Amino acid sequence: MHLLRPVMLALLIFWAPAASAQNTAKRVDDLLAKMSLEEKTGQLVMTGIDSPLGADAIETGRVGSLISFNDAAAITEAQAKARKSPLGIPLLVGLDLLHGFRTLFPVPLAEAASFDPELAARNAELAAREAAPAGLNWTFAPMADVGRDPRWGRAVEGSGEDVLLAEDFTAARARGFRAGGLAPTLKHFAAYGAVAGGRDYDSVSVSDYELQNIHLPPFRAALGPITTVMSALTVMNGVPASADRKLLRGLLREDWKFDGVILSDWGAIEGLVKQGTATDPADAVRQAMAAGVDIDMASNFYAQHLADEVKAGRVSMADLDAAVRRVLTLKFELGLFDRPLPELSKAEEGVLTPDLRAAARDTVRKSAVLLKNDNAHLPIKPDVKKIAVIGPYADNAFEQLGPHEARGRPEDAVTLLKGITERAAKNGTDVIHAAGCDTYCYDDAGFRQAIDAANSSDLIIAVLGERREFSGEGASRAFLDFWGRQEDLLEALAATGKPVVLVIVAGRPLDLRRASEIVPSILMAWYPGTEGGTGIADILFGDEAPSAKLPISWPRSVGQSPLHYDQMASGRPHDPKGRYTQRFIDEAVSPLYPFGHGLTYTDFTYSNTGVEPQTMTTNGRTVKVSVDVRNTGARDGTEIVQLYMRDEVASRVQPMRRLRAYRRIVLKAGEIKRVTFELARDDLGFRDETGALIVANGRFLIGVGRDSTAELSSVLILGD
Ligand code: NOJ
Repeated sequence: MHLLRPVMLALLIFWAPAASAQNTAKRVDDLLAKMSLEEKTGQLVMTGIDSPLGADAIETGRVGSLISFNDAAAITEAQAKARKSPLGIPLLVGLDLLHGFRTLFPVPLAEAASFDPELAARNAELAAREAAPAGLNWTFAPMADVGRDPRWGRAVEGSGEDVLLAEDFTAARARGFRAGGLAPTLKHFAAYGAVAGGRDYDSVSVSDYELQNIHLPPFRAALGPITTVMSALTVMNGVPASADRKLLRGLLREDWKFDGVILSDWGAIEGLVKQGTATDPADAVRQAMAAGVDIDMASNFYAQHLADEVKAGRVSMADLDAAVRRVLTLKFELGLFDRPLPELSKAEEGVLTPDLRAAARDTVRKSAVLLKNDNAHLPIKPDVKKIAVIGPYADNAFEQLGPHEARGRPEDAVTLLKGITERAAKNGTDVIHAAGCDTYCYDDAGFRQAIDAANSSDLIIAVLGERREFSGEGASRAFLDFWGRQEDLLEALAATGKPVVLVIVAGRPLDLRRASEIVPSILMAWYPGTEGGTGIADILFGDEAPSAKLPISWPRSVGQSPLHYDQMASGRPHDPKGRYTQRFIDEAVSPLYPFGHGLTYTDFTYSNTGVEPQTMTTNGRTVKVSVDVRNTGARDGTEIVQLYMRDEVASRVQPMRRLRAYRRIVLKAGEIKRVTFELARDDLGFRDETGALIVANGRFLIGVGRDSTAELSSVLILGD
């Protein structure tokens, strides 16, 4: 928390010119009254700095916002041009900051494994503070989509499969970006995470019931000031999201009263023609405007056709004005009209600071999940003489940064090999390294050297994984295997008879059927980012005990996907002996590691779960659920206590269980603590197809434990 203090102070200065809503409305109206039609449509156009609309596009007021992968100098130059435009309207300048700017934190899915939304808020704020001096004032993050299918590469950008976790993390990240001075973007509205078969850009079919209970809640939870929403580039239930009037105007604007900017995803308006709901570009523009999309990201269809459509009366001036008003309001609220141009000499001053690096390292420690630790090979004992660090991801700064790297650079990162080597030296332990193969691992020519290194050591740390280009956008996978011959390498290492610790660098659960049989210890490092080496070494050597839990069920094999713990109750529930029950013929229905699973270097027991009062009347406001958690091991440790609930009988079929609360607690060796959660009536409810919250009387089963298999052994009655 001490990290936050200087950040907050700096922010107060940053945010000083915040204008009142009334004042802003007046300034917007005054400006709007002066604008030509082309200047208005220009505000709805987003391009890159090198605009396809020509070199003078910004100076002539035909571009309102930039998607910028450029440096501070280029952004400052673009803003200077905007100031020279007839009305001098500054530009919104946005970039995807999924897990940092120059200092890269572990990827968002990893961060969610901390079950610590405040950590995510802090990181988002730090990332915003690092990015703002380069001229950015907007970010296309956080991703609010619930990702339940590891085949979908973009699951790495979100908070996993659980709705509560996604609500909390999305809201926290949006809050952090705001606090750091950037407008956040909640994306991708809506249900992009449910693309068929996990294939990116495929269509989505979800019922209104699923939409209301799974996909919309993280968006709803994260709305707030200076917040924008990005319409998905996918089709949902037969309607492209960027032409979905019911979704954007109806639900988002009218029902939820969202009055911020809606922008399309990249080329999504152009996509309407390819998706076949629009006959031509002008029709696509009409459809997007009718649906309520304010800004066209990179299609240039608004640039080419919007003014003509307004002139012809096919898009109303009122709709155009409303959209421009929202864009200008955001610009005023961000203080862009009152900000001086970024000072180039200061653009790099706040990057990669010790505070940022410390926060990144802290996040690595809190996000790496210890999946398995038979024979307690971890933490590494001080008397281990020699460690062989093997594998193509061990000394690979580029890969460990992960996808969506913003301005992250490999040369700034501490590799796992470096972190391990430096930490081992403190114990007098030698480290030897061999990659074994490259990241494709098609060739086993390097295996011999790796095996020799392994044979000469007392402990093997195998660092295997998935290339970062195989994770993230456009990176769906039909198989979840380790690429190439990495498993053969692992098998050869295990065959040496030396203990093997497998460290996985990847953005999704990989198929561990073989690995989990032959390796005693497995640590999921995800893509740990800039401080990957220091943070992972902290855990391996026990300077910090692992504490993270899986935010996504770890399937045994890809055929189980999508697999999530909160599956709906079935009329034929799983029965291992029952042929006609919910199951696979050739695979278990359970995951290899359940949602919420994660080990540490000590152990915990749970007992005496109590619900007070046991009957909550309609007037009752809250109920307390308490449990004794005991650290039964010899080390201090952190546990993430998880509360699950099942609504036994309801007017709609309910999930078998839902996470309703969680808390990180620290327990000394042997210590016992009573942990109390407070549940409100609304926490027990669900939404019907219209979005109405239903909290009906009846029996609820409750269980508290260390993962999503916790026994639901307590009863709460909701009555009159
Ligand atoms: C397309 C992606 O879907 C979106 O998430 C991202 O913000 C834009 N590209 C801009 O990079």
